[in-house]
Amino acid sequence: MSNIQQTLSIIKPDAVERNLDSEIKEIFINKGFKIVKEKKIQLTKSEAEQFYKVHETKPFYNDLCSYLSSGPILVMILEKENAVLANREVMGATNPKDANEGTIRKKFGISIDKNSVHGSDSIDNATIEINFFFKD
Ligand code: CDP
Ligand code: MG
Repeated sequence: MSNIQQTLSIIKPDAVERNLDSEIKEIFINKGFKIVKEKKIQLTKSEAEQFYKVHETKPFYNDLCSYLSSGPILVMILEKENAVLANREVMGATNPKDANEGTIRKKFGISIDKNSVHGSDSIDNATIEINFFFKD
């Protein structure tokens, strides 16, 4: 049975700054994802705080929100069979040091905070995050 899903992907400031967006998009396309929508934007600090609200009690919250709003990001809706999990697999572990060979974070991540990509972690959060950026 087919289980086509959509998930939200963000190419974070460290990767956009290094002009890695086309290379990262190509990885998704080669893995069979369809890029349904995309836009390059820069968030304000308060928009980043809203986006990462689930992490508001974490010690890294403030730095994380400053970082996400520090430069342009590329936001995409990715579509594929089991897209949520498939995207997490292509991204690799949160800390690039722990990420598997061949993953985006292993290849491009600089550190746990500058780890090049964001991906929704569940179907429910994918819907919430897609609506956050692409409500029309
Ligand atoms: O992005 P992912 O879902 O893999 O990780 P998360 O646990 O949801 O954390 C969100 C983001 O916070 C990560 O991607 C990191 O950039 C950042 N983070 C951090 O700076 N320091 C940590 N100890 C954990 C996460
Ligand atoms: Mg997460």
